[in-house]
Amino acid sequence: MGLFSRIILLLLKFFLNMKKVLVIGACGQIGTELVLSLRQVYGTDKVVASDVKVYANDTFLDGPYKQLDVLDREAVRAYIIAEKFDHVYLLAALLSATAEKNPDFAWKLNMEGLFTVLDLAKEGHIQQIFWPSSIAVFGPTTPKQNTPQYTVMEPSTVYGISKLAGERWCEYYFKQYNVDVRSIRYPGLISHTSLPGGGTTDYAVDIFYQAKKTGKYTSFLDQDSALPMMYMEDAIRATIELMQAPKEQVKIRSSYNLAGISFTPETLASEIKKHLADFTISYAPDFRQDIADSWPDSIDDSHAKNDWGWQEKFGLGEMVSEMLTHVDISKIS
Ligand code: SER
Repeated sequence: MGLFSRIILLLLKFFLNMKKVLVIGACGQIGTELVLSLRQVYGTDKVVASDVKVYANDTFLDGPYKQLDVLDREAVRAYIIAEKFDHVYLLAALLSATAEKNPDFAWKLNMEGLFTVLDLAKEGHIQQIFWPSSIAVFGPTTPKQNTPQYTVMEPSTVYGISKLAGERWCEYYFKQYNVDVRSIRYPGLISHTSLPGGGTTDYAVDIFYQAKKTGKYTSFLDQDSALPMMYMEDAIRATIELMQAPKEQVKIRSSYNLAGISFTPETLASEIKKHLADFTISYAPDFRQDIADSWPDSIDDSHAKNDWGWQEKFGLGEMVSEMLTHVDISKIS
């Protein structure tokens, strides 16, 4: 690298590091890992983790933590205005399976916090927002294979309805008020660091804990239920890359499709068997089967690739060996 490029890179790093960042809902599946990665990029003291929990996850102890209830609009407003955050990542939400058990609360939680931060950005108190969407925005009438970015969207879960409504509002605030909001439709996320909570795709994490602990697993989805999934390391990198992309490259202000890796419980079990030959799987589908049946089998993410250069790293084989190496079974009872 030449001297000029090195100076540009240093300047870029300097300006990036000037950002002050707030992650709301930081103790959840994505936040737990995202906060650590953001602290590597922007500096530990520049990234505040916040959650409704009074005490932070142990992993956040080296940096700032703020107890914040996203439903307390006035408290969130006062804190963000006083602290002058540049970027806000709003992750607080109920996932698909939990939301079906408490639709009123899910709608309230998933929508109200979004309006609070969109309004703050509209008033000039936040420069950039990240808000996660999901493959749950698609529904039973959506084409299942290689689901396009733009297609029929008739979600049948309260989670999917809230994410689709949120996407429309994000685009509206961008177009009407120039709010720089960015979003990804995450596939099911698979991580060995943080446990998921209440999703339809959670089987693809639980299976690793049970494979290591007991050598067997009963899946709550049928053997041939294909769903798009993604290894957390890729998901975190995608999030940070999207947030760092030049504004004009972020052409979609609803939410970007990301493909990840599509597989069925049966395919995942076969891959695990390559490492643990005695592993067995059985199937006992429950109410989550209907949710899975309404979602795509696989996703087309060519817009993310073309607009901001997205490229995934982890395939099924790499993901399975990473998970089996790192999953810590002492985390589950
Ligand atoms: N992983 C989520 C869920 O299953 C989908 O976004 O609810």
